This record gives sequence, C-alpha cells and structure tokens, in this order.
Amino acid sequence: MGSRCAGINSARALPEAIATVKDPRASALPLPEKPLTAHRFLPRTPLTGRIRVPGDKSISHRSLMFGALAVGRSRISGLLEGEDVLSTATALRAMGARIEKDGDTWVVDGVGVGTLLQPQGALDMGNSGTSTRLLMGLVASHGITATFTGDASLSKRPMGRVIDPLSIMGASFTPSPGGTLPLVMEGLQPAVPMTYRLPVASAQVKSAVLLAGLNTPGTTTVIEPVPTRDHTERMLRGFGVDVRVEEIGGEKHISLTGPVDMTPCDITVPGDPSSAAFFAVAASVVPGSDLVIENVGLNPTRDGIFRVLKQMGANIDYLDEREVGGEPVADLRVRHAQLTGIEVDPDIAPSMIDEFPVLFVAAALAQGTTITSGLDELRVKESDRLTAMATALSLGGASVEEREDGLLIRGTGGKPLAGGGPVTTHLDHRIAMSMAVAGLASAAGVEIDSTEPIATSFPNFMALLEEASA
Ligand code: S3P
Repeated sequence: MGSRCAGINSARALPEAIATVKDPRASALPLPEKPLTAHRFLPRTPLTGRIRVPGDKSISHRSLMFGALAVGRSRISGLLEGEDVLSTATALRAMGARIEKDGDTWVVDGVGVGTLLQPQGALDMGNSGTSTRLLMGLVASHGITATFTGDASLSKRPMGRVIDPLSIMGASFTPSPGGTLPLVMEGLQPAVPMTYRLPVASAQVKSAVLLAGLNTPGTTTVIEPVPTRDHTERMLRGFGVDVRVEEIGGEKHISLTGPVDMTPCDITVPGDPSSAAFFAVAASVVPGSDLVIENVGLNPTRDGIFRVLKQMGANIDYLDEREVGGEPVADLRVRHAQLTGIEVDPDIAPSMIDEFPVLFVAAALAQGTTITSGLDELRVKESDRLTAMATALSLGGASVEEREDGLLIRGTGGKPLAGGGPVTTHLDHRIAMSMAVAGLASAAGVEIDSTEPIATSFPNFMALLEEASA
C-alpha cells in the first residue's frame, strides 16, 4: 500500500470527548433546493491527446477513513476532491480527525480506533452512499450517537442493508420510514462480533461490517458469495490490520479480530476506472478518436467495463502496466472502433456495477443488440439507473427496452443518435456524464437538465472533455 505504511509516527494527544448531542435530529432538516444548470452536450471533433482522470472515489473515501482511525499522520496524494469524498472528510473532522490539504497532499491526523468523538451536529452525507454506509459501520462499534442526513437522492436509498447487520452487532437505529435517511444511530462499545453472509453483492455492506469489527473485541467475519471490490481488505492491511481471506466452497470468508491498532500509511490514489470509463466509451464511439487516459486503476474487481468493451470490439491497449498504491494501474490507449452488441454475462456485473449507464451508451451505438440482465442493484443507486437510462437514451433517439433486471438495446450500427432532451439526471452524476457522452455521438446534441451532480465524483469532467476534443 503506497510508499510508506510501516511504523507508527509520533502519536499526538487525543482531544477531549465532547458532550453528547441533545437533539440529534434537530439539524436534520433538508436544505432548500438549488436551481439547476442545464447543458447541451454537442457532437465533437475526435478525442485525442493525453488526459488524467481524478483519483479513485472508493480508495479516496477509505484513505480518509483509515487515516482517521490510525494513531499518527497519514499522507494522501491523488485524493479525489469530489463532493462525496469531501462529505467523508467533513464527517471525520466532526468525529475528531484533523484533515488538511498541504500543497497537493492531504494530511490526516487520526484519533485511533475506539476514540472517535461524539459529533456535535448531524453528519451531512450529501449524495454519497459510500460515506453513509461505511461511516455507519465505524459509528456502530463506538459509544457515540450520530445523525446521518443526505440529499433527496440519498434519502431514498435503502439503509436496511447496513442497519440489519450493524443491529446484530449491537447498534440501535431510528431511521426514516422505509429504512432511509435521515436516521439516528447509537453505537455500542464494546460491540458484539459476528459472522455475516452478505445477502446482496455489496462492497459497502461488506465494508460497513468489517469497519464495525475494527473496534469489536473478537473475530468479525463477512462471507462474500460473489466477489465485490476489495479495496477495504487491501487497504486495511496497509494500515497494519491483519485481514484474513479464505476461499471456502467458492465463497470468500473475510475476517479480522478486534480491537485493532491501526498504523498510519502514505497513500497514492490511482485514477478512477469508473471515471475513465466515460472517456473510454467516448473515444470508442466518436470517429477518429485516439486518446490516452493515464494512470487508470485496473483492480480485477473493478475492470469489468474494459473487459466488456473489448468483447464488443473496442480498441483499448494497456500501456506501461505498473502498480500504484498497491493497485494495478495502466495508461489506456483508446481508439475509435465499430462496437458490436453482445449479451453481457451477469457474473461480471459486480466488477463494473457503476459503469452500466455508460455501457448502455456504447450499446446504443453498437452494431446489433446488447442484452444485460441481473442488474437489480442498479435500481437502488443514486437513481434507478435502469429506468433513468432507458428514458434518457430513448429521449436521445436510441432503441431501448427496459426489463425487470436489465436493458435490451438495439444499436445504431455506428450512426449518430438523433439527440434531444432535456433528459432528467435525478441528481445522479453517472446519468449526467453518460448522457454527455451520448451527446458527443449524436446529430443534434443531448441536453441534460443539470450538470451539478457531476461534481460528486468528477469535478473536472467538463474541462477534460474540452481538453480532449480541443
Ligand atoms: C462502492 C461500492 C459500490 C459502488 C459505489 C462505491 C464502494 O456500491 O456502487 O459507487 O466504494 O464500496 P455497492 O456496495 O452498493 O454495490
């Protein structure tokens, strides 16, 4: 993990505990809605040159969280400065960590496992499911009470999937109806260890339980029938935690024994494959493109989109394959190619769960039909991504049939989509960026109702698009 994750730096004095919150839901009122900024993404000249996408969102969240739990100072370079990650930083500061930017590096002075402080007000998670679910895991085994709030999109997303296991470990919850935010939770210290088999393929649920286990005496085990992104396991080891992974009967048993002491770590965050995917599809579908996307993380639990695009005939070369921050990384050279529709194997879904919206755009421009299935999880992301993309692509002129657990898309065979809109992004960054890519390969452009959500994961998306098609 990174370049330096060994010994403990000089420990600093731990701040005094702060008095408990009197009315934890008092500051949970929703903020007034901001006006939206619509934008039409027009057809473009080929995408060329070299670009570098921002740091991986999943790794960025975990860098801050694990840094906050170590005793001493961790340094992070390449952190994604998107709104979701900044929500994590703000919440961790409210629980005692010092997090500051020093030049290009983020510096985290942790409080140590077991000594998170009582936050004074509600923790505003914005749009970020990862912040919410992972931080709920942390709070669950600390003797503190926390209120979690979020925007309209996050407030619809199911939290029962983390409430259930964390309740077994001893935390108590007062959620909004349907198990949603705003919710108040009270951690239990010491919590109760357990073995938990994941009922859904979710790295967030896996991580929430493992993070609760960090301050729980005894062994906490998560059984993972279907592999999901493994950044938590890899990175916890970098912070000195003994994470054991056993393969039993085709399932992963992931265990750690708490309470643990975590040692600080210097981390270099690789580029986000989920962000690179928008440019990989854009360069594949805009004729004449020849684009290098530098420093893209290619963890095998995350690279499904590139494997599927290649199956569809995409021209993607991995250049200078190397390791950054303990993760496989390469520069991706992507050249325009005529894509062909395929039936996507549902087993690959967890390794590209966030990339389906942009894959649907690639499918809409392919030769022939693309069929996807097994994608029920897409209905509970930042929006219902099956309905949102079926509606948006149809408005843009594509032929899409929505099914219960996937989409069937008849491609144009490389002809530009008609274009149109405005399409509704539902506060979902990936719908916004996917439809932006659709606009590049359309005759009249595609208008999206709001560009604001893009900042949650890819603040310089528009600037990079300008740079690549200049
Ligand atoms: C994430 C896990 C995935 C993914 C999300 C980030 C993580 O969510 O969609 O963007 O960092 O653990 P699920 O665990 O709900 O599949």
